[in-house]
Amino acid sequence: MSTSDDAVPAKAMAEVEGRVRTLCLRHAERLPFHGWHHVSFVRDKAAEFARCNGAEVSVVRAAALVHDVNYLVRRNSAAAEGSGLRRAILAGAGVTPSVIDWVDALVDEAEMRTRHRDISLEAQALSDADTLFKALPVTPVVLAHRYLAENGVSLRELADKIVGEQRGVHDSGFYFYSPAAAASYSRWATANLELWQCIRESLDDPTVERLLTAVG
Ligand SMILES: [Fe+2]
Repeated sequence: MSTSDDAVPAKAMAEVEGRVRTLCLRHAERLPFHGWHHVSFVRDKAAEFARCNGAEVSVVRAAALVHDVNYLVRRNSAAAEGSGLRRAILAGAGVTPSVIDWVDALVDEAEMRTRHRDISLEAQALSDADTLFKALPVTPVVLAHRYLAENGVSLRELADKIVGEQRGVHDSGFYFYSPAAAASYSRWATANLELWQCIRESLDDPTVERLLTAVG
């Protein structure tokens, strides 16, 4: 439920959502992993986590909508590379300059590669939603191959990225910031990391390598 005190009022939010959805659908063939299905999942879960942790819900929701526009700017890029497009979408939707700065900063803050234990509540809510998508048991089964195609990376590169970026935060205890998310989803996260560790190990077997070459 939106209120007049929201950092991103309902009318601007609807504009942001419409613009991002249109872009995602127009470029759907370039976004088989980070398309509208991903953005709308992260939007819904981030808003849910924000309501629970006391973050400003509207800014989290807006940040979720624009958090992955970097993949429209350049394949396999960091969130910061989407800053120009992100700011343009928000400005075009009527979001105020100070809130645009806030959204842009919290998207960077929530990045898996660089996030730390003490990020803001808003970044925590966004991070938990985006991390949950990565840890869903269905993601390696039905979506991982889409990530490879979208970003032009090999299975070994993806396994190295997942284990390299996620093992440290997992073992340090802030894979999820929300205690409720940690209670509900940590088992999935642990299983997912173990799976990717096993995938990486299996690729060192030359017979497995030949198998993968044979299936293309
Ligand atoms: Fe994402």
